[in-house]
Amino acid sequence: MQYDAEQRRFDCAPTLTDSEILLFCRNGYLMLEGIVPDEINQRSCDFLDGKLPLNPTVMPPGLTLEDLERIRDTHEPSCILLEDWYIEHILLNPVLTGALRSLLGPGVGLPVLVSHHRSECPQPAQGWHHDADRIFGPELNFVEVFYFPQDTPASLGPTEVVPGSHIGPVSRPAEEQGVLMSGPAGSIGIHHQSILHRRGVSTVPGLRRMLKYNYWRTAAPARDWIIEDDFDFHTAYYGGHHSAIFYAHMFYWLCGKGDEYRVIGGQAWPWRTEQQIGPSYGFGLEKGYVPDWRGSGPDTYAYPQP
Ligand SMILES: [Fe+2]
Repeated sequence: MQYDAEQRRFDCAPTLTDSEILLFCRNGYLMLEGIVPDEINQRSCDFLDGKLPLNPTVMPPGLTLEDLERIRDTHEPSCILLEDWYIEHILLNPVLTGALRSLLGPGVGLPVLVSHHRSECPQPAQGWHHDADRIFGPELNFVEVFYFPQDTPASLGPTEVVPGSHIGPVSRPAEEQGVLMSGPAGSIGIHHQSILHRRGVSTVPGLRRMLKYNYWRTAAPARDWIIEDDFDFHTAYYGGHHSAIFYAHMFYWLCGKGDEYRVIGGQAWPWRTEQQIGPSYGFGLEKGYVPDWRGSGPDTYAYPQP
C-alpha cells in the first residue's frame, strides 16, 4: 500500500478479476462484510456521538479546530476523514482498497465529504430513488462507499438496492423489494452512484448510523486489475436484452476501450444465451452503433456512430 498523505491518494495491488469487474458492471454494487475491527467500529460511533476529542492528522487550509468541531455536529461530519485511526482502518482498509484500486485505477483519491445517515429505528422504508446529480453513462469516474459501524441486519433497515439499475432512470413501487446490503458491524458497501436504492424498512428499536462518501478516479481507465487467462470478451456474459449493451459498454470503458465499442443490436454480441450453438455475431466490428444512454434515439437504445 502506498499512501500519499499530502495528495490524499493511495495505490495498491488490485484484487478483483475480469469476471468480478464485469459482475460489478452488471450489478452496480459490491458488499464487503465485517472488514473493520470491532474496536474501530466502536471508536467511530463514539466519535460521531461527540465522546472522543478531535485529533486531526493535519489541519486543512482555511479551517480551524472550531470549524471541525462545528462540522462534527452536522449531518456531514467530514472531520472524521482526518483522524489517523479512521484513515488506517476504514479509508485505507486493505480489502476495500484492493477493490477500489481495481475499479478506479491507480492513485485513487480519498473522499472529502461525508454524509452521516443517522436514523432512530424502527422506521418505514425510504422511497426508491436515484441520488441527486447522477449521470447515466459508461464512465466510472467515482464510486459511492458506505460504512456501517454497528451490526446492520435486515431488521435495522440496511441500504437496499436494485441490482443492475444504474444504467438508466427506473421507478419502482414502494412494495417491491430489492437486495438488502446488510452485514455485521464493520461492513462496507461499494455501489455505482446512479443505482436505484433506498434505506430499507427497519423493524426493531435501535440506532442505525451509516457514513457515506465517494472515492475518485485520477487516472485514465485501463485493464490493469487481475487478468484471467481464459477470460473471453466474445463469450463473456454481459446481461440480457435492453441491458447487456450498456453493461458491456461500461466494461469496455473500464478496459480503456470505450471508444472502440460498437454494437449492431438484436441477438448480436454482447447478447447471448446458453442455448445458442455458436458464438454471437457482431463481435469486434469497427462500424456499428454506440448505446444511447440518454434514450434520445428513435429506437430508444442506440444511435449510429459517424
Ligand atoms: Fe440516496
